[in-house]
Amino acid sequence: MELGDFPLVTAIIAILIPLLLWLFSIINDWRYCRGLEKERDGHRVPPGSMGWPVIGELLDFLWCFKFTRRPDDFIAKRKSRHGDSGIFRTHLFGQPSIVTCSPEMNKFVLGRGTEDGSFGPGWPSSQLLGASSITMKDGLSHKRLKRYFMDAFNSPRALSSLLTNAQPTFVEFMENWVSKGRISAFEETRAVTFANICDILASFKEKTLLCTMERFYTGLMAGLRAMPLNFPGTSFHHALKCRKKLTDILLKEIKERKEKSIHKTDFMQVLLDSTDENGEYLSEQEIVDNTVSFILGGYESTSNVMTWALYYLAKYPTIMQKLKDETLSIRGKKPKNGLLSMEDLKAMKYTTKVADEVIRLANISPFIFRRVLKDGIVFNGYTFPKDWRILVWIRSNHIDSEYFDDPLTFNPNRWDNFKPKPGTHNVFGHGPRYCPGNNFAKLQVMMFLYYASSKYRWELINPNAGITFLPHPKPDDGVEIFFSHAL
Ligand code: HEM
Repeated sequence: MELGDFPLVTAIIAILIPLLLWLFSIINDWRYCRGLEKERDGHRVPPGSMGWPVIGELLDFLWCFKFTRRPDDFIAKRKSRHGDSGIFRTHLFGQPSIVTCSPEMNKFVLGRGTEDGSFGPGWPSSQLLGASSITMKDGLSHKRLKRYFMDAFNSPRALSSLLTNAQPTFVEFMENWVSKGRISAFEETRAVTFANICDILASFKEKTLLCTMERFYTGLMAGLRAMPLNFPGTSFHHALKCRKKLTDILLKEIKERKEKSIHKTDFMQVLLDSTDENGEYLSEQEIVDNTVSFILGGYESTSNVMTWALYYLAKYPTIMQKLKDETLSIRGKKPKNGLLSMEDLKAMKYTTKVADEVIRLANISPFIFRRVLKDGIVFNGYTFPKDWRILVWIRSNHIDSEYFDDPLTFNPNRWDNFKPKPGTHNVFGHGPRYCPGNNFAKLQVMMFLYYASSKYRWELINPNAGITFLPHPKPDDGVEIFFSHAL
């Protein structure tokens, strides 16, 4: 080849590669969508693209979430390419999928479509969650478990146990933060939330046990986010081992309570005592699977919200002052070291709005998974092909200026007499699978805000830290702060 041929070769490659990629994506689209169009009946496959073979549109997802750190571009790009129908086809995380992102579509999938069994749980692995976990169950068995859990979490016994157990733990941890001076809010709020959740769920308090359980939990979580490849060395394989060890700890506790007739006031006890209409108790496996599910559902979600609360309050001093005014006035009426009561929490109107606003803006659950269980599901003219996964993209509505004024500003007062339009505010989901821990989470965040704002002060060490979005939104530095007693 002559030296002069190189520009020609480069030009051919520059044309060929995009052409081949385009061709691959056309073939891939045809592979998944052939036979699904039924134009005559007015049924269309949602607009979009299945991306390239095997990886689908994963690279673009990673581009938006990881590299440019503009996660909302993922939806914005698709809206500009395929129109604002609120529904797109794609291929993500190894599965043909449908993304829904309009209030109407999200309400349908999470509400009516889940209620009538068209859509079921879309979580990746029942091996890790446990086949009898509430997150894996459908229909009547899901309803039955949900009823137990709503009772368990909203029962006066559970709420008073939350109040009396969580508050001393917050104070103990925060005093420890003061002695450290400089802390990572992300790490520390994880530790305090884990301590609280283990105490509330199974009265586990012993520090070595908590550390061990936290290690197993972290291994389990890594497996849930990994490819389900079960051989030594993979995250999934390790996660299965962690799951087994967590199960052993919980089973040992259940057996001990049964053998020694020990009665405690915690979530596990409520499950042990619950019977259905036929007088049947839950099996030990059901109790274990669901205790694990509650740790999974309630731990990182709540601790991430607390981390963001410290972050936003440090960034918005006026809001911090208003919060302080309220929490100090409540504290002023209580005896020294007096615990908050349910009435106090109800009276903390501004604190409630701060909690709601942190939960909205932190947007810690970007989407909710479902799987299409039935053939022939159609909504607004779009087909939902059987076995495809659905990603209900709740995050985009929470920061859409059509539904929330100046949506990226942290403004607790937006909640003054404001009810979001149905389908636009799904931070805890919607419909039959609505988060059963929502009150629990909010109460914990409010107690956290009360103690942090009325007794302590803090300052961001890196106020301009960037934000990462995978697996959950978090400032790069884990919100490093100087933490001290208030003057
Ligand atoms: C701020 C904190 C929290 C957020 C943002 C949150 C968010 C959510 C969302 C969006 C769902 C719906 C999932 C779906 O539709 O498939 C959900 C379900 C669930 N959450 Fe939470 N959650 C939080 C706290 C908690 C807590 C504290 C617990 C328990 C202690 C908990 C336990 C669960 C469980 C077990 C489910 C599954 C319910 C079902 O499948 O019926 N969550 N959560």
